[in-house]
Amino acid sequence: MTHPSMQTKIGTIDTIGGDPAAAAVERGWHALDPRMLDLMTLAPGDVDIWVAIVADAPDAELSVQFDEVLIEEERKKHAKFLFEKDRRRYLVTRSLVRYVLSRYMPIAPADWRFEATAFGRPVIANAHPGVSGFTFNISHSDRVVVLGVTRERRLGIDVEDIDREMPLDVADRFFSAIEVQQLQSLPAHLQPARFLDFWTLKESYIKACGKGLSLPLDQFGFDFRGEAPLRVHFDPRLNDAPENWSFRQWRPCADSVAALCVENRPTLSTRIAVRRVVPFVREQEMAFDVLRRSA
Ligand SMILES: CC(C)(COP(=O)(O)OP(=O)(O)OC[C@H]1O[C@@H](n2cnc3c(N)ncnc32)[C@H](O)[C@@H]1OP(=O)(O)O)[C@@H](O)C(=O)NCCC(=O)NCCS
Repeated sequence: MTHPSMQTKIGTIDTIGGDPAAAAVERGWHALDPRMLDLMTLAPGDVDIWVAIVADAPDAELSVQFDEVLIEEERKKHAKFLFEKDRRRYLVTRSLVRYVLSRYMPIAPADWRFEATAFGRPVIANAHPGVSGFTFNISHSDRVVVLGVTRERRLGIDVEDIDREMPLDVADRFFSAIEVQQLQSLPAHLQPARFLDFWTLKESYIKACGKGLSLPLDQFGFDFRGEAPLRVHFDPRLNDAPENWSFRQWRPCADSVAALCVENRPTLSTRIAVRRVVPFVREQEMAFDVLRRSA
């Protein structure tokens, strides 16, 4: 089924700045063509990850997206950011969510509505049959916005830029005893990277559970020792088990690291696809080069 609501929008955007199709081919992108925009299927077990590099979107494209897809409440929030970099990232994020959801369901990008759970997790508020069982989760760093979508299972995603300042002094409070021990056994120059590994994996889990920071961060943790796949451990108080979850870590771009947490379901095998995208403008399939994964 072709997505009627996106045809004119993308036709409009593609005419900006000369010949974007030619520019896209040069960079290895597939420029979006309305004819390509059949609704995508997401079978139970499929996980699609969408990666938007903030710097990929030229200003002219972003301003068209702003006009086309943001709702009033989002425009007001956009206007309140103090720094241009935050405004830009916000716009890429909102455009990404609206664009991606419309790739799976016949709802126009501007028509998506969201509400937050008691723990602040945004969920889709539209009453459409395709929404049932559909899950998404977003994470943003300064450089990149990642969005994971799946069906019939929980999912959490986190991304951080590797050159950000690491608050190593909070490890004692937020990491499990095994994580603290692993961190402290490393030479000082390797500790920031390991801190980020633990941080992104922990965030991916709390985001998959959807309970935010109400989950005690020191009651679960990751074990990287040895060559074996990474292992997660839970304090009995959390009433959870490693076999309930799969974790993967990868680099969505050279300067960022991301973690994905998906709920294991006995009847579902996992197929993960990654796409780099400038919402409404172009997209490109990406390899999913996993750095570490759980068993
Ligand atoms: C809000 C939180 C879920 C993620 O925050 P974060 O890592 O700062 O930010 P991210 O960019 O990864 O994620 C933000 C997105 O998570 C989503 N989100 C918010 N609450 C969520 C929840 N309870 N569950 C799942 N996702 C949630 C939202 O989509 C939000 O983006 P949006 O506001 O643009 O819609 C929460 O974990 C938090 O505040 N973390 C603070 C960081 C911290 O102290 N980490 C310690 C790790 S050791």
